[in-house]
Order: sequence, then C-alpha cells, then structure tokens
Amino acid sequence: MKHSIGIVTIAVALFTTGACNNASQNSKTTNTKDSLTRDSAAACSNYLNKKSFEDTVDGKPTDLYVLKNSSGACAAITNYGGRIVSLIVPDKNGKPTDVAVGFKTLKEYEGPGDAYYGALVGRVGNRIAKGKFSLDGKTYTLFINNGPNSLHGGKKGFQAVVWDAVQPNDTTLTLSYISKDNEEGYPGNLTVHVTYMLGMDNSLKINYTATTDKKTVVNLTNHTYFNLNGEGSGTILNHLVQINADKYTPVDATLIPTGKLDPVVGTPFDFTKPTAIGARIDTVGNIQMKNAGGYDHNFVLNNGGAALHQAAEVTGDQSGIIMDVLTTEPGLQFYIGNFMSGKYQFKSGAADNYRTAFCMETQHFPDAPNQKTFPSIVLEPGQQYNTTTVYKFGVKK
Ligand code: BGC
Repeated sequence: MKHSIGIVTIAVALFTTGACNNASQNSKTTNTKDSLTRDSAAACSNYLNKKSFEDTVDGKPTDLYVLKNSSGACAAITNYGGRIVSLIVPDKNGKPTDVAVGFKTLKEYEGPGDAYYGALVGRVGNRIAKGKFSLDGKTYTLFINNGPNSLHGGKKGFQAVVWDAVQPNDTTLTLSYISKDNEEGYPGNLTVHVTYMLGMDNSLKINYTATTDKKTVVNLTNHTYFNLNGEGSGTILNHLVQINADKYTPVDATLIPTGKLDPVVGTPFDFTKPTAIGARIDTVGNIQMKNAGGYDHNFVLNNGGAALHQAAEVTGDQSGIIMDVLTTEPGLQFYIGNFMSGKYQFKSGAADNYRTAFCMETQHFPDAPNQKTFPSIVLEPGQQYNTTTVYKFGVKK
C-alpha cells in the first residue's frame, strides 16, 4: 500500500509538469517521439517510490527530485549524498532504459551495500596515501578507510551527507552543502554548490563550485555506475570504450599512483580506439591489472584541465546507447565494478553482480596533495573551484 501511494505521488508530480504537458498537448498528432517521451517519463516513476526517500537524516530532510526533458530523458536524484538514483534515456529502438544503477530506498544507500552508487564524492575524491597531506608545513590526518589509505573523503564523505536542494524548474537541481572546518580532518569551511542540468539533447551536465575560508584541498566528482544496456542487464565487459588519453597513472598495490605518467600504447590501458572493456582484462602478467583487480585507474586526459573537452565515449553493445563524457578536469578514473559483490539488490531487482556497471569519475589525479608533479587541488580563500562534467546520451546510427 505504502509503495503504491508513493508511485502515485511521483507519477502525479511528473504528469503535472511542463514536459509531460507538452507530451499530452502533442498527442493529437501522436507520433513516435511523443509516445517515447511519455513512456520515458512514466518509466522514471516505474520503480521509484518517492516516499522511500522522504526521511530525516542528521536532522535534515531527504527527498527524491525528478528532472525530465521532452526528448525522452529523465533523472531521479536524491539530496542524500546528491545521488543519481536513476537516469533514463531511449535506446536504439526508443525503449526507455535506466543506465544508472541504484537502490529503491534511502535506507539501502545508508546501508552496507552502498559503494558510492550515484554519489557526489568529496571533499577529496579518490585516494590520499596513508590519509596524510601537508599544507604550508602543517600535516593533516584523515580517516583511513581503504587499506592504508583514505578514500573518497573519509569516514563520512559528501556521499553520506544531506545537501540542501533547490529545484527551480523541470530540468535543474542545485544542491548545496557547507563542509565545516576540520570535517573529516580537512581544513577550512568549504561551501559547495552542485548543479545538475538535464539538456534537451539528453545530456546531464554537472557543475561543481566551491569556496573556502582557509587554504584546503578539493577534488569533487560523481560516482555514478553506468550500465548502458540498462540496470540489471548483466556484464559491462562487452561495452565499447574509447578514452582520449595517451597516458595513465600507474598505481602500487594499494592503488596509490607511483607518480609516473605512463604511455598507454602497447598496454591494456590503450583505449584510444573503441575497444571492448573485457578484451584485455585477463592480460597475463600485467602488474597494473593485478594491483587493481581490473581497471580502476586514472587516465591522463589529452587536452585535460582547461576548457570542456571530450574525455571518453562508451557504447552499450545491446542497447546501442552511446554516452559521451565531456569535462574540464584533467583526469578520469575508469572503474569497472571490480568490488561489486552480488550480495545486494538494485532497484530493478537485479543483484549488484561483479562488473555489471562501470564508473567514469572525472577528477584531478589520485593522491594529488602528495604528488608534487600532479596538477594541484589546493583551493585558497578568494579563489573559486569550478569544474563541469557532461554525460551526454545518444544512440548508434
Ligand atoms: C575506486 C575503487 C573503489 C570504488 C568504490 C572507485 O572510485 O577507485 O577502488 O572500489 O570507487 O569505492
């Protein structure tokens, strides 16, 4: 009963807003595009019960927000950790396909099965060696939560806090959070705003800004796990991936970069031409594959670190869905779900099986505060951190 009330609630919300009004107005001249638009909006409400996200965490209200356009895409995002719970786009036959894996309820995101699904990651995404770094001679100590290192902001990173949410229209959601001085051991009060924008071209643009009142370090990213054939459709090893990176940052056995930028040519890391993810996954004797248990590496993007540029393109082998990743960031962590366990259940009912989703985390390089030759992630008072990443969806022609 509770479940069906929730579905009705979200369906009502969807069907009283602009995009859906457009769809019904146009229904006099029904054509495929209009019916797809309606299907897609309906698909967003299919298995998502808004009520399952309405709660209070740390004294702050949580909810589920739905963005949608009139080109057949919608995204459901919760302000708990800024997580993309669902991202629906049409496949090559126009079928609405949920390309972002996620859970049905807020509780599951708070539980042990969570692996940063769909989350905003910070204050510093990726690893910091031994959980220590120095600024102006002062050493800061972070929580160790990944072998000997600190991962994704520490014990309670940005993925587990409640963000203030403002949704000014159908296609935009702005989330804001103030990370207090010394929160998780990081210096400075950091004010962060993240805006999700769903474009008419089925692109999801994420803009991150931050300011601080003390010198600090910042490296924000989004940790959505994609399966372009749709959540629950099995392995991602047959997806085709192309990454515009001639170099990558090799890592030690604890996944901390060695500091070198190694050429990808002649290695399983050469994705300069579209290649199936699984094609070279079992390359015998490759120490990097062994260290990470598969791809879990930062690629050094060609042309990275300035204007928005094309970082990668991925194609779902069954759906024909193409995802272009554009970013202003210099790096891209390509992670293929090597730690997915199969113990937990996604919203479609499918298990979180090994390598059934992949991440493309745009970022500055891992362990940047301790690696003098890597682009800096230091933010000073008076400066503005401002990065943008776009995940744009289309289909193979
Ligand atoms: C890391 C992986 C980690 C995953 C989930 C990725 O960003 O590189 O090693 O298992 O996040 O925490």
